[in-house]
Amino acid sequence: MGPYREAYRRSVEDPAGFWAEQAARISWFHKPSLVLDESRPPFYRWFGDGVLNTCYNALDRHVVSGRADQPALIYDSPVTGSARTFTYADLLERVAAFAGGLHALGVGQGDRVVLYMPMVPETVIAMLACARIGAVHSVVFGGFAPAELAARIDDAQPKVVLSASCGIEPTRVVEYKPMLDRALELAEHKPQTCVILQRQQATAELVEGRDLPWAQVHRAGANDPAPCVPVDALDPLYILYTSGTTGRPKGIVRDNGGHAVALRWSMDNVYGIQPGDVWWAASDVGWVVGHSYIVYAPLLAGATTVLYEGKPVGTPDAGAFWRVVSDHGVNALFTAPTALRAIKKEDPSGTMLGDYDLSSLRTLFLAGERLDPDTYSWSSELLGVPVVDNWWQTETGWPICASPRGLEELPLKAGSPSVPVPGYDVRVLDEAGAEVPTGQEGAICVKLPLPPGTLPTLWNDDERYVSSYLARYPGYYLSGDGGYIDNDGYVFVMGRTDDVINVAGHRLSTGSMEAVLAQHPAVAECAVIGVADPLKGQLPRGFVVLKAGVSVQEEDLATELVQLVREQIGPVAAFRTVSVVPALPKTRSGKILRRTMREIADGGTPNVPSTIEDPAVLETITPALRG
Ligand code: COA
Ligand code: AMP
Repeated sequence: MGPYREAYRRSVEDPAGFWAEQAARISWFHKPSLVLDESRPPFYRWFGDGVLNTCYNALDRHVVSGRADQPALIYDSPVTGSARTFTYADLLERVAAFAGGLHALGVGQGDRVVLYMPMVPETVIAMLACARIGAVHSVVFGGFAPAELAARIDDAQPKVVLSASCGIEPTRVVEYKPMLDRALELAEHKPQTCVILQRQQATAELVEGRDLPWAQVHRAGANDPAPCVPVDALDPLYILYTSGTTGRPKGIVRDNGGHAVALRWSMDNVYGIQPGDVWWAASDVGWVVGHSYIVYAPLLAGATTVLYEGKPVGTPDAGAFWRVVSDHGVNALFTAPTALRAIKKEDPSGTMLGDYDLSSLRTLFLAGERLDPDTYSWSSELLGVPVVDNWWQTETGWPICASPRGLEELPLKAGSPSVPVPGYDVRVLDEAGAEVPTGQEGAICVKLPLPPGTLPTLWNDDERYVSSYLARYPGYYLSGDGGYIDNDGYVFVMGRTDDVINVAGHRLSTGSMEAVLAQHPAVAECAVIGVADPLKGQLPRGFVVLKAGVSVQEEDLATELVQLVREQIGPVAAFRTVSVVPALPKTRSGKILRRTMREIADGGTPNVPSTIEDPAVLETITPALRG
């Protein structure tokens, strides 16, 4: 039995023993004696009586053990033309100061702090500062509109909101402050204070009595830096909202103890990264990849993490990624397949690679969406290093399936994120909950208990946690993805089985877009589906039925609806196409056949259910779907 099989077997047969050993790699104020609490299924808890501080493990611990002068964070920002390196000692000093500043504002253990920030070092500093004082951060991606930010503020009820004057996109400066002000008008909950980072590219107007400049809060804290507060392993470290099937986002909770243990384990065992290595996750801190693999995991592991404020193309060209790898001696790069497709589109033969020295690069990791075999072969051939797909979700916080490079160099298969990672007992189930034979598609589930670091619940909503993930198949976590396992135990993830879509590696809910379209006075009914797109993986497309008697120009209506989604959800939705149709195909019980619509739109042979109400409707709208 190889090292992977052996580790996997142990993790499934004796999860408590397996993770107890891994917990020893983390510094605790009080070591956990109760590793896995199974007394309250379906709620499982890891390291219940442990006491630790995540920021201590990410920073102080390395400074104490001799890494003070090693780079911890490299900020590389082609959009501002700047780059800066922070050693572990620098980062610790800044985090302790900002934590002191937050503390002086009255932020204490368990208080929530919402961040609506661009990809700047201050964002990382603020996240770690929250962890240091036991506050719970909730980062909202900058591409979301004020209404989405407001919904998250109302759910998380932050004492303080942290933001900046602007973010910088390749073609424009995005002013964040007016969006924050609008969100605070929309939100019922009012934070006590907003702390605003002024950037050179735009100056934010501060509201007297509510807003404070970032520099002032930092200065105040520098005079009285905050120590690490001991927190319970089960205390929340952060809340990260993600799209569900309805318009209401789900507040994924991450606890401190399990998260630190699992992420530390994943860095060397899954990603093959050792202390001192340079690691670059080219994602955004607004997403889970950013939380886990820009901020926490590399720092927990004593590696150097790169924070990149730019895009794969356009900042300034398709050689940007190769420039960063070469400038900073990156050992492993982690990004989404869509980023490589964007590079391939502009530089199909990879000529720009010739300008840079990529000899430091050992591995390319890809996640966030399905890795199509074309992108897999193109990048493998171009870079000459293993291209390793890994499948996971905001909910799990770290990979469910991957080729665990630190354990064993297993063969890679195009189209598969390889094998279940130790800790995840992956099963594929049919409608009735029985395991399907090898090779047959079904719902990909994980037998409970989930490993440490995965969501213990949803913020203030145990009921929704159970109904969304655990009720469909008692004893299993429902991933929401469909797929199959082959004869060698490799998992193939074929796509979501619900109304969640994946646009350029960003997870979005078609339900929330439908809720926006339905607000328009001319719209009687609507459906949004995700259709295949060669660059972004999927793009949303809307179909609307007009109210009886309404007559509008289709083009005008489409423009209004596109604008409405942009205003209410944000540009990140990339919602640009909407068609007026006479009717929507439905089952006899009134359920819209979105899956069938998607199959037609993708040019495939549709699976038309026998319960369809009127097959003629499908024929009528086929040209619009294929259009
Ligand atoms: N703040 C404000 N606006 C933002 C934003 C942010 N942080 N991020 C994106 N947007 C805006 C963009 O400006 C764009 O607006 P536009 O409609 O006015 O052009 C829109 O949201 C869509 O952005 P994006 O998804 O980045 O698409 P793009 O067409 O600008 O670029 C790619 C395409 C493929 C280059 C880009 O999607 C990419 O780099 N993807 C990688 C995804 C990734 O890292 N995912 C994380 C999971 S690992
Ligand atoms: P998010 O929660 O934003 O990370 O999105 C999670 C979803 O993205 C998963 O449920 C999948 O549908 C999809 N996804 C992420 N990584 C992969 C992958 N490697 N292969 C296939 N789908 C993926």
